[in-house]
Amino acid sequence: MPSAIWKNVCRLLCVSAAASVGVALPMLAQRAAQKPAAAPASAPATAPATLGLGTAWYPEQWPESRWETDLDLMQKAHIRWVRVGEFAWSRMEPSEGQYDFDWLEKAINEAGARGIYTVLGTPTAAPPAWLTQKYPETLRTNEDGRKAEHGNRQQFNWDNPKYRELARDIASRMAQRFGHNPYVIGWQIDNEYAAVSFDAQTKADFQQWLKGYYKTLDNLNARWTTAYWSQTYSNWNQIPIETVGGNGNPGLLLSWKRIVSDTWRNYQKNQLDVIRQYADPRQFITTNLMGWFDGFDHYTITQDLDLAAWDDYVGMGHLDAVRNGATDDLTRGFKRKNFWIMETQPGHVNWHTVNNDLDKGEVRAMAWHNIGHGADAIGYWQWRSALNGQEEYHGTLLGADGTPLPLYVEVQQLGHEMEKAAPALTGTSPKSQVAILHTYPSFWAINWQRHNKYYDPVEELLSYYGPLHAIAQSVDIVQPTAPLSQYKLVVAPGLNVLSDAAAKNLIAYVQQGGHLVLGQRAGMKDSDNALQTERQPGPLSDLLGGRVEAYYALEHPVPLEGDWGANTSQMWAERLQITKPGAEILERYGKSNGWLDGEPAAITRKVGKGRITYIGAWMDEAGMAKAAEWMTAISHIPPAFGPVPKGVEVNARYGADHTVFVLVNLSGVAQTIALPRHMRDVLRGEEASSVELTNYGVAVLSEPHK
Ligand code: GAL
Repeated sequence: MPSAIWKNVCRLLCVSAAASVGVALPMLAQRAAQKPAAAPASAPATAPATLGLGTAWYPEQWPESRWETDLDLMQKAHIRWVRVGEFAWSRMEPSEGQYDFDWLEKAINEAGARGIYTVLGTPTAAPPAWLTQKYPETLRTNEDGRKAEHGNRQQFNWDNPKYRELARDIASRMAQRFGHNPYVIGWQIDNEYAAVSFDAQTKADFQQWLKGYYKTLDNLNARWTTAYWSQTYSNWNQIPIETVGGNGNPGLLLSWKRIVSDTWRNYQKNQLDVIRQYADPRQFITTNLMGWFDGFDHYTITQDLDLAAWDDYVGMGHLDAVRNGATDDLTRGFKRKNFWIMETQPGHVNWHTVNNDLDKGEVRAMAWHNIGHGADAIGYWQWRSALNGQEEYHGTLLGADGTPLPLYVEVQQLGHEMEKAAPALTGTSPKSQVAILHTYPSFWAINWQRHNKYYDPVEELLSYYGPLHAIAQSVDIVQPTAPLSQYKLVVAPGLNVLSDAAAKNLIAYVQQGGHLVLGQRAGMKDSDNALQTERQPGPLSDLLGGRVEAYYALEHPVPLEGDWGANTSQMWAERLQITKPGAEILERYGKSNGWLDGEPAAITRKVGKGRITYIGAWMDEAGMAKAAEWMTAISHIPPAFGPVPKGVEVNARYGADHTVFVLVNLSGVAQTIALPRHMRDVLRGEEASSVELTNYGVAVLSEPHK
C-alpha cells in the first residue's frame, strides 16, 4: 500500500484544540441511553470538553448486527470517538449518482447513543472501481509514465479536474447529510496525502504556476541560473517536471515542491469549502499527516484546517522519545496549538521489515507521552482487522473472532485514565521558551544535495532538540517567520534556505534581545534555492560578525575543543572566521585535514541585549549536551519541572490557573522521583511529594498557579 511505502521511506478527546474550534463532548456521566438513538436531535449538542480515546472503525466491513457488540466493547474501553468512512466510497455511492448514507447514519447514531462521537472521513483516498473505469483520466500517472490502477488506494490524480468534481460531490453530499448531526464532531479530509501525478495536464499546470510565480521568463531564467547547461527557457511550455531522481535544477526542484504543496492545498480546499458550507461551525476540519514525511509543505496545507493531526507509527523497534516527541512538537507547530493523534499503532504494524510489538505498558506510555507534548486525542488504528484486504496482519484491539486481544485491557486502562485526567488537562497546552526553527525548503534543499550521504536534516534537528528538551523540558518547533518574541532562545539547525522575510524576522528577534543559534548549513541559499552571494549565514553574517569560510564533508569525525569540552564533529565541519569585533570563539577544530586544524568551529556575538551564535560542527552527543547547557544557561532558561532521572521524560501543559506535568518513565527500570513541590497526583487522586514509576510508568501531576 502506498502509505506503508511512504512510512518506510520517511517515517483524547479534545482538550484545547477541539475546544478552540468549538468541539464539545459530553462527559461520561451524561451519556445517552444505551439504545441506538432514533433521532440524533435528541443528543446533547454541547457539553464540557474532555480528553479522548478513539479508534478507526469500519462499519461498512461488517454486518449491522455486529455493530452493537463492537460499540459495547468500545464503550467498555472508554473509547469516546470513532473515525469512520474514509475508505467507504463504494459503500456510500455504489454506482454513479446512487447514494446510500443510511447505514452510515445508523452507525453514527448507534455510536453516539453510547457517547461515542464520530470524526467523518471523506472517502477520496479510495475511489470506487466504477469511477476509475468510467473516468480513467482521474488516475494518477507515475513518474515513469505508467498509470496507476485500481486494486489498492491513492490511485487518483490530485490535480485532475474531473476527480476534483467527483470528490467535491461526495464531500458535499456527506456534509449535507451529516453537517448538523450532533454526534459528528469533525471531519478528516481524504487520508494521508502523498502520491502525486506526472501527467501532461499537471505539467501544463506547473508551467502556468511558474508564470504566476515568476511573472517573466527572464526573471525565472535569472533566478534559476539557467545559463548553466543551456537550460535557458524561451517559452513556458519548455519547462519540464524534474525531480531529484532526474537531477533537476535546484530552483526547479523547489518550485515543483511548491506547486505540489499548493495543489494539495487546493485539492483539500475543494472539499473543505463545501463541508464548511453545509456543516455546523462546531465541527472541526482536519486531515491526518505523517510526521516528518516531506512530500509537501505542511505549513501550506494546515493553514486552512482547524487543527493538525498526525498518524504516529513506530513501525519497527520501540518508542524513541526524542524523535516521537519532536514529531509531536512539529505537528503542534503547524497551527501553534494542540493537535490530534488521529492514528497510532495498537501494538504492531504490518508494513515494516520486522513488525515487532511494543512492550506491555509501552502503548499506554506512548499515548501519555503524546499527551504531554500537546495531543488532545489518541486514536488507535484500527479496531478490528477486515477479514481480507491488504492489512490482515496489522495490530488491532479485537481479534479476528471479534473478542478483545490482550492489548485491549491496556488501552481500556488508558481510556479510563484519560477520562480521569480530562478535567485537569482541559484547556491546557505546552508552551516553551525555546524554539527550534524548521522549514520544508531547507530540509528539501539539504536532502537534494546532502554532500555527505549520511547528512539527514531530521537527524540534525534532533541532535539539537534532544539535549535542549532534556534541559528545558519543552521545545516548540516553528517556522522562522513565526512570532518569536515569546522565546528566550531560538535555534535554527540547518536553516539552509533563508528567505528575506525569515532573515528580517531573525534579525529583529536578536535586536530585540533574543538569542539566535544557527546550526551548520544555515543561511547558504536564497528562496530560489540559489547560493547566497554572501558566505553563510548570508544576510545574518553582519549581525554575527563572522562567516563560514569553507565547508567540509567529513570521512571521519574531527576532534573539537573549547568551552564545550573535547568532543568530535561528525560528518560535517564548517571553518568559521570572525569578521567583526565582539565575536568570540567557543570551539575550535583539532588536528584533522589541515584546512580545519585550529580553526573556529563555533562563534558567538553579543548584540545589544541579544546574542547570535553559529555552530559549524555537527557535534557528537557529549558536545551537543554541553552546547545545550551553555545555550540554556546564557539564555536564562529554567527547566519546566526540575531534575528527573535520565530516561524519564517530563512535559508541561499550562492552563489559565494551573500547570499539568506529564511524566513518562522510558528508562527501562523503576524510578522514584522526588517532586520539586507538593503536587496533585491526578491519576491516583492524592497529594504527592514523590512518585514511583515502574518501567513505562506514567504520572500526571497538577499544580495550581500561585
Ligand atoms: C495509515 C493509514 C491507515 C492504515 C495504517 C496502517 O498510514 O492511514 O489507513 O493503513 O496506516 O499502519
